[in-house]
Amino acid sequence: MERKEFLSLVGVSVGAIILQNCMTSCKNDSTPTPANNGGNTGGNNGGGTTTGITGNNLKANGTIDFTIDLTSASFADLKTDGKAIVSGDVIVARTKTGTYIAVAKACTHQGTTVSFEPDNNRFNCSNHGSNFDLTGKVINGPAASPLTQFAAVFDSTKNTIKVS
Ligand code: FES
Repeated sequence: MERKEFLSLVGVSVGAIILQNCMTSCKNDSTPTPANNGGNTGGNNGGGTTTGITGNNLKANGTIDFTIDLTSASFADLKTDGKAIVSGDVIVARTKTGTYIAVAKACTHQGTTVSFEPDNNRFNCSNHGSNFDLTGKVINGPAASPLTQFAAVFDSTKNTIKVS
Protein backbone atom coordinates (compact mmCIF):
# COMPACT_ATOMS: atom_id res chain seq x y z
CA MET A 1 0.00 0.00 0.00
CA GLU A 2 1.37 3.36 -0.95
CA ARG A 3 1.62 6.21 1.52
CA LYS A 4 -1.09 8.22 -0.26
CA GLU A 5 -3.51 5.26 -0.21
CA PHE A 6 -2.75 4.61 3.46
CA LEU A 7 -3.40 8.24 4.44
CA SER A 8 -6.63 8.26 2.48
CA LEU A 9 -7.82 5.08 4.22
CA VAL A 10 -6.94 6.50 7.67
CA GLY A 11 -8.82 9.69 6.85
CA VAL A 12 -11.98 7.80 5.91
CA SER A 13 -11.79 5.67 9.08
CA VAL A 14 -11.34 8.69 11.36
CA GLY A 15 -14.23 10.43 9.63
CA ALA A 16 -16.47 7.41 10.18
CA ILE A 17 -15.59 7.29 13.88
CA ILE A 18 -16.28 11.01 14.33
CA LEU A 19 -19.60 10.69 12.50
CA GLN A 20 -20.63 7.73 14.62
CA ASN A 21 -19.78 9.56 17.87
CA CYS A 22 -21.70 12.61 16.74
CA MET A 23 -24.73 10.52 15.79
CA THR A 24 -24.68 8.88 19.23
CA SER A 25 -24.29 12.08 21.24
CA CYS A 26 -26.55 14.20 19.05
CA LYS A 27 -29.57 11.93 19.24
CA ASN A 28 -32.81 13.70 20.02
CA ASP A 29 -33.46 13.33 23.71
CA SER A 30 -36.29 15.83 23.89
CA THR A 31 -38.91 13.16 24.51
CA PRO A 32 -39.91 13.49 28.13
CA THR A 33 -39.58 10.47 30.37
CA PRO A 34 -41.08 9.89 33.76
CA ALA A 35 -37.73 10.82 35.27
CA ASN A 36 -37.72 14.36 33.83
CA ASN A 37 -41.39 14.98 34.11
CA GLY A 38 -41.33 17.60 36.81
CA GLY A 39 -43.83 16.95 39.55
CA ASN A 40 -46.27 15.09 37.35
CA THR A 41 -46.65 11.35 37.53
CA GLY A 42 -47.99 8.42 35.57
CA GLY A 43 -49.42 8.53 32.09
CA ASN A 44 -47.59 7.90 28.87
CA ASN A 45 -45.19 10.77 28.91
CA GLY A 46 -43.71 10.22 25.50
CA GLY A 47 -47.01 9.98 23.73
CA GLY A 48 -48.14 7.04 21.66
CA THR A 49 -50.41 4.41 23.08
CA THR A 50 -50.74 3.05 26.55
CA THR A 51 -53.28 1.03 28.44
CA GLY A 52 -56.15 3.24 29.44
CA ILE A 53 -55.94 5.76 26.58
CA THR A 54 -58.05 5.75 23.45
CA GLY A 55 -57.86 8.46 20.82
CA ASN A 56 -55.21 11.02 19.94
CA ASN A 57 -53.05 12.73 22.54
CA LEU A 58 -50.37 14.01 20.16
CA LYS A 59 -50.56 17.37 18.38
CA ALA A 60 -48.54 15.98 15.47
CA ASN A 61 -51.34 13.50 14.76
CA GLY A 62 -54.04 16.17 14.43
CA THR A 63 -56.76 17.32 16.79
CA ILE A 64 -56.26 16.34 20.42
CA ASP A 65 -59.18 14.13 21.38
CA PHE A 66 -58.72 11.22 23.73
CA THR A 67 -60.32 9.39 26.60
CA ILE A 68 -58.62 8.30 29.81
CA ASP A 69 -59.88 5.17 31.52
CA LEU A 70 -59.61 5.86 35.24
CA THR A 71 -59.77 2.14 36.03
CA SER A 72 -56.32 1.81 34.43
CA ALA A 73 -53.45 1.68 36.93
CA SER A 74 -51.54 4.16 34.74
CA PHE A 75 -54.01 6.87 35.66
CA ALA A 76 -54.74 6.01 39.29
CA ASP A 77 -53.28 9.37 40.33
CA LEU A 78 -56.17 11.18 38.70
CA LYS A 79 -58.48 9.76 41.35
CA THR A 80 -56.73 11.95 43.94
CA ASP A 81 -57.20 15.68 44.36
CA GLY A 82 -54.05 17.65 43.56
CA LYS A 83 -52.49 15.08 41.24
CA ALA A 84 -51.63 15.30 37.55
CA ILE A 85 -50.45 13.05 34.74
CA VAL A 86 -48.95 13.71 31.33
CA SER A 87 -50.44 11.92 28.35
CA GLY A 88 -48.84 12.65 25.01
CA ASP A 89 -48.79 16.43 24.59
CA VAL A 90 -51.29 17.13 27.35
CA ILE A 91 -51.12 17.49 31.12
CA VAL A 92 -54.30 16.46 32.87
CA ALA A 93 -54.77 17.50 36.47
CA ARG A 94 -57.28 17.12 39.24
CA THR A 95 -57.44 20.28 41.31
CA LYS A 96 -57.63 20.27 45.09
CA THR A 97 -61.37 20.75 44.75
CA GLY A 98 -61.74 17.69 42.49
CA THR A 99 -62.17 19.45 39.14
CA TYR A 100 -60.45 17.97 36.11
CA ILE A 101 -58.47 20.35 33.90
CA ALA A 102 -56.21 19.85 30.89
CA VAL A 103 -53.69 22.07 29.10
CA ALA A 104 -50.86 21.57 26.61
CA LYS A 105 -47.84 20.30 28.52
CA ALA A 106 -45.19 22.28 26.64
CA CYS A 107 -44.25 25.67 28.04
CA THR A 108 -44.81 28.29 25.35
CA HIS A 109 -41.42 29.83 26.07
CA GLN A 110 -39.09 26.99 25.05
CA GLY A 111 -41.14 23.83 25.32
CA THR A 112 -40.23 22.42 28.74
CA THR A 113 -42.94 20.22 30.25
CA VAL A 114 -44.77 22.17 32.92
CA SER A 115 -45.65 20.79 36.35
CA PHE A 116 -48.93 21.08 38.18
CA GLU A 117 -48.73 22.95 41.48
CA PRO A 118 -52.03 22.22 43.23
CA ASP A 119 -51.28 24.34 46.29
CA ASN A 120 -50.77 27.40 44.10
CA ASN A 121 -53.51 26.54 41.58
CA ARG A 122 -51.10 26.89 38.70
CA PHE A 123 -48.74 25.19 36.28
CA ASN A 124 -45.05 25.97 36.66
CA CYS A 125 -42.20 25.71 34.22
CA SER A 126 -39.03 24.94 36.13
CA ASN A 127 -36.81 25.96 33.22
CA HIS A 128 -37.11 29.75 33.45
CA GLY A 129 -39.91 30.15 35.98
CA SER A 130 -43.00 30.88 33.90
CA ASN A 131 -46.31 30.25 35.65
CA PHE A 132 -49.72 29.63 34.12
CA ASP A 133 -53.13 29.61 35.78
CA LEU A 134 -55.51 26.66 35.64
CA THR A 135 -56.84 27.79 32.26
CA GLY A 136 -53.32 28.05 30.81
CA LYS A 137 -53.18 31.86 30.95
CA VAL A 138 -49.74 33.34 31.63
CA ILE A 139 -49.32 34.57 35.22
CA ASN A 140 -45.71 35.55 34.71
CA GLY A 141 -43.13 35.03 31.98
CA PRO A 142 -40.80 34.81 30.28
CA ALA A 143 -43.51 32.85 28.44
CA ALA A 144 -45.74 35.32 26.59
CA SER A 145 -48.43 33.00 25.24
CA PRO A 146 -50.93 30.85 27.12
CA LEU A 147 -50.90 27.07 27.23
CA THR A 148 -53.65 25.68 25.03
CA GLN A 149 -56.56 24.69 27.22
CA PHE A 150 -58.56 21.54 26.56
CA ALA A 151 -61.92 20.46 27.88
CA ALA A 152 -61.62 17.66 30.45
CA VAL A 153 -65.00 16.05 31.01
CA PHE A 154 -65.44 13.41 33.70
CA ASP A 155 -68.01 10.70 33.06
CA SER A 156 -68.85 9.09 36.39
CA THR A 157 -70.84 6.29 34.72
CA LYS A 158 -67.95 5.16 32.52
CA ASN A 159 -65.24 6.31 34.95
CA THR A 160 -63.47 8.17 32.16
CA ILE A 161 -62.17 11.64 31.38
CA LYS A 162 -62.63 12.86 27.83
CA VAL A 163 -60.00 15.43 26.80
CA SER A 164 -60.61 17.46 23.65
S1 FES B 1 -39.10 27.03 28.83
FE1 FES B 1 -40.63 27.50 30.27
S2 FES B 1 -40.04 29.41 31.06
FE2 FES B 1 -38.54 29.01 29.56
